[in-house]
Amino acid sequence: MAKRKDVTKAVKPAAAPAPPPSSAPRTPPPRSKPSPLRSFILLIRIASCCFALYVLWKRMHPPKEEAELAEDDKRVRVEEIEVDEVRRQAVLEAFKHSYSAYERDAFGFDDYHPISHHGSNMSPAGPVGYFVIDSLDSLLLTNSTEEYKRARDWVKKLSFDLDDKYHTFEITIRVLGGLLSAYHLSGETDQMLLDKAIDLADRLLPAFDTPSGLPLSFVNLKTRQGIADKDNRGWTSVAEAGTQLEFKYLSHLTGKKIYWQKVEKVMDVIRKQPNKDGLVPIFMRPDTGSFVFSDIRLGSRGDSYYEYLSKQYFQTNRTEPIYLDMHNEAMSGIKKLLLKKSATKGLMYVSELLPRRKAEGTFEMVDTPKQDHLVCFLGATFLLGASNGNTLPLPPDESTLSESQLDDWVAGKGLIRTCVDTYTSSKTGLAPEIVNFYLRAADAKAAGRDWFINSRKLTYPEPPIDARNILRPETAESLFVAYRVTGDPIYRSWGWTIFQAFEKHCKLPAGGYASVRDVDALPVVHEDRMETFWLSETLKYLYLLFSDKDLLPLDRYVFSTEAHPLPVFTPTRFQ
Ligand SMILES: *[C@@H]1O[C@H](CO)[C@@H](O)[C@H](O)[C@H]1NC(C)=O
Ligand SMILES: *[C@@H]1O[C@H](CO)[C@@H](O)[C@H](O)[C@H]1NC(C)=O
Repeated sequence: MAKRKDVTKAVKPAAAPAPPPSSAPRTPPPRSKPSPLRSFILLIRIASCCFALYVLWKRMHPPKEEAELAEDDKRVRVEEIEVDEVRRQAVLEAFKHSYSAYERDAFGFDDYHPISHHGSNMSPAGPVGYFVIDSLDSLLLTNSTEEYKRARDWVKKLSFDLDDKYHTFEITIRVLGGLLSAYHLSGETDQMLLDKAIDLADRLLPAFDTPSGLPLSFVNLKTRQGIADKDNRGWTSVAEAGTQLEFKYLSHLTGKKIYWQKVEKVMDVIRKQPNKDGLVPIFMRPDTGSFVFSDIRLGSRGDSYYEYLSKQYFQTNRTEPIYLDMHNEAMSGIKKLLLKKSATKGLMYVSELLPRRKAEGTFEMVDTPKQDHLVCFLGATFLLGASNGNTLPLPPDESTLSESQLDDWVAGKGLIRTCVDTYTSSKTGLAPEIVNFYLRAADAKAAGRDWFINSRKLTYPEPPIDARNILRPETAESLFVAYRVTGDPIYRSWGWTIFQAFEKHCKLPAGGYASVRDVDALPVVHEDRMETFWLSETLKYLYLLFSDKDLLPLDRYVFSTEAHPLPVFTPTRFQ
């Protein structure tokens, strides 16, 4: 079990007498008690001595010349670099602490339970490489050479001939994306990885065989059949439908058109539907290709659709301006309809539009001040768009930005500030899954923060899902991008603060890190789970945040929604 520390109860000890300097003898020899007059004279002597020393010091340190100040600046910068190196090493340690525990307890399994020290698979059919493959590029980035070798050997023996239904989107972003980024980062020479990616992609493609071309949510990897999501009436979410980057890169690598065509078709279908200021409902019908009247939100089921508009534009080296237009339209819609400011601190957040039945049988969209942690990717999206994929010179000259770019710039920074607040204003320093913003300043003042965690879902013994922290990456991601495009050290400092909260509350002494049930409850209660995205995303982004800017430069890489870096390329064959 983890050792739990209760911070609120930790009381500072009362001022203790200062310990003797280490050079002083432990038991000083007894001295005769000095008279008041002698003490006074001693005091005067000490005072004049101090004054003389001060005058001397002043003479030796005249007011600083410019050159000296520049020297000082340089020193401060050197110190900053050293601090960041220490931080980078600390993140590296966290990565090793996590991966070595997984390798020891659960190597090869899809999911890892770090408290009970075991692994499990999503299906009795066998592992699909969820954990190992999602971690490959992080192993490469951290030079974990031996671990990578063992992981690669495991992947080589893995078969995707698995007779069960798998989530099309999750397998695409974690497994296909993991194979492709590892293939690229290892030098684009390891044919085994590319062959695996092709085999998997071919098994995923049948999900797209629907009347509209929108993919079904599940696919049987052995029988190669798409399977509709019965829990959601067979609808597909826009976040899942818009997964483009992996398939397009695969087309580029193999010269095979089919992957490109399948995903490009999805974007055509979405584009042909009427939308609201570039905003789209979260559900679509794979049979007809039309939207289902449903929530409009940037959180779950909506998120990566918005994340990928500009990334599609950047990935193909700005050769498909249609996606930049879609991105700009969507960002304008978000600013116009969803972007709000909180009651007392003026924190920017993004609300949701939820359909509600009106009395006479018609529906209306109701603005709801609820923000998922998932939405924290959006700060990065705004900043990447406004900086044209990090190609503006640093430091950014805000006066050269267009009006809408400047709005995006401000929105991006504001949203990141808010996401950081959802960490720093909780009792543990960890952000919850979902926050709701107070609409009345009085409520926020009474609560001491601008947001609250909805506890209505609290049905014993299930914890309130909203209050959990499951080691999610989106804030780390935005901090990394913000640091790269602005150069402002505040983002590194916030990232360090957040990292320390993970260290304090999620780290398990016996290895691994665990989710926390309630970010406002001390001591924390852990859940027996370490998500794959902790290694593939959260720690990767924190590591990159403290690394040099030419490690995976943002003008030459796009990061998939699972943080797998894929290179920018100029398409030549498919347009
Ligand atoms: C990995 O190796 C490369 C090349 O030798 C080096 O530049 C990089 O700093 C190393 N990274 C780590 C985490 O040791
Ligand atoms: C992107 O396009 C520019 C000019 O259009 C070209 O110079 C550059 O090499 C391209 N980058 C890649 C990665 O293809």
